[in-house]
Amino acid sequence: MQATITILAGDGIGPEITSQACRVLDVVASRFGHTFTYSEQLVGGCAIDATGSALPDASLQSCKESDGVLLGAVGGPKWDDPTAAVRPEQGLLALRKGLELFANLRPVTLHPSLASASPLKQERLAGVDIMVVRELTGGIYFGTPRCREEKNGVVRAIDTLAYSDYEIRRMVTLACKIAEGRKKRVTSVDKANVLESSRLWRQVAEEVAAQHPRITLDHQLVDSAAMRLITQASSFDVIVTGNMFGDILSDEASVLTGSLGLLPSASLGDGSLGLYEPIHGSAPDIAGKGIANPMGTILSAAMLLRHSLDLETEAAAVEQAVFDAVTDGTRTKDLGGSLGTTAAGDAICAKLAS
Ligand code: IPM
Ligand code: MG
Repeated sequence: MQATITILAGDGIGPEITSQACRVLDVVASRFGHTFTYSEQLVGGCAIDATGSALPDASLQSCKESDGVLLGAVGGPKWDDPTAAVRPEQGLLALRKGLELFANLRPVTLHPSLASASPLKQERLAGVDIMVVRELTGGIYFGTPRCREEKNGVVRAIDTLAYSDYEIRRMVTLACKIAEGRKKRVTSVDKANVLESSRLWRQVAEEVAAQHPRITLDHQLVDSAAMRLITQASSFDVIVTGNMFGDILSDEASVLTGSLGLLPSASLGDGSLGLYEPIHGSAPDIAGKGIANPMGTILSAAMLLRHSLDLETEAAAVEQAVFDAVTDGTRTKDLGGSLGTTAAGDAICAKLAS
């Protein structure tokens, strides 16, 4: 097949890790007889420096015209001024909204040979295999009004948490669909003891679950879900939740594996176009040193092959290559080793080609 992929390398370690993912995609192309064409575009801090906008029109246009989008990371101390009119993160949010990518999939799995890297005791880690399904284009990230006001010498800032029934329905439907191919358990996380939007979330989740008789749905308040992630992580299968709870819980869940650098994500909408990125950030402290772990980005490229290009065999081959490389001791600094970014890419390309 022929496919066009927009590469948004972004800031910090972004260019180093996306270039390794492109090498892996090139090996996939030659092994399986595909042609992938890359369109490199700006997003984040580098886009602000070059154009004044965190997501230039040309970048969004290129994404819309491509079959999938691979992103490195955005942000860094250079653009961290809280009073700045434009911030790198706005590029990411505009991208999600602009491409209508309402669902964020964050798989959290544990590589057996890395269990000792987890801060949790090993006996708590057995069987951890979680898919966090986070709402991405609604909730408190996008609700209005959103403003600052000053009255009688008091400064007030307002954010709004709102969800419509259709936004909840499509999320829980997707979570049920994903759970069908897994252990058939969905945990919907909310704060229904306090928030009206969470009570609607719970009600709609029940309605959707009634149409999926093979799925077991349970509801959990976000505070106790945060605890359960540490105490009984293996009791989760699919977690579905709103934008901010998902942001927080997915970072928490990622720590279980002891290897933030390994975890990928996919942001999906109604069509086949998706945005794929590692869940770690731009790591400005190690940018340009050639030591970043490219595996999260390479596994994100695998998700792109699966979800946007419908190339399941190829996606599984990339995942297996990463798994095998880690099993064989491929270790970047974050995994306790000393291999550089390119050497880790070499090891994975070699596994994939063999
Ligand atoms: C994430 C990040 C983003 C988010 C930031 C960078 C805007 O934390 O993708 O989880 O909060 O969604
Ligand atoms: Mg986050």
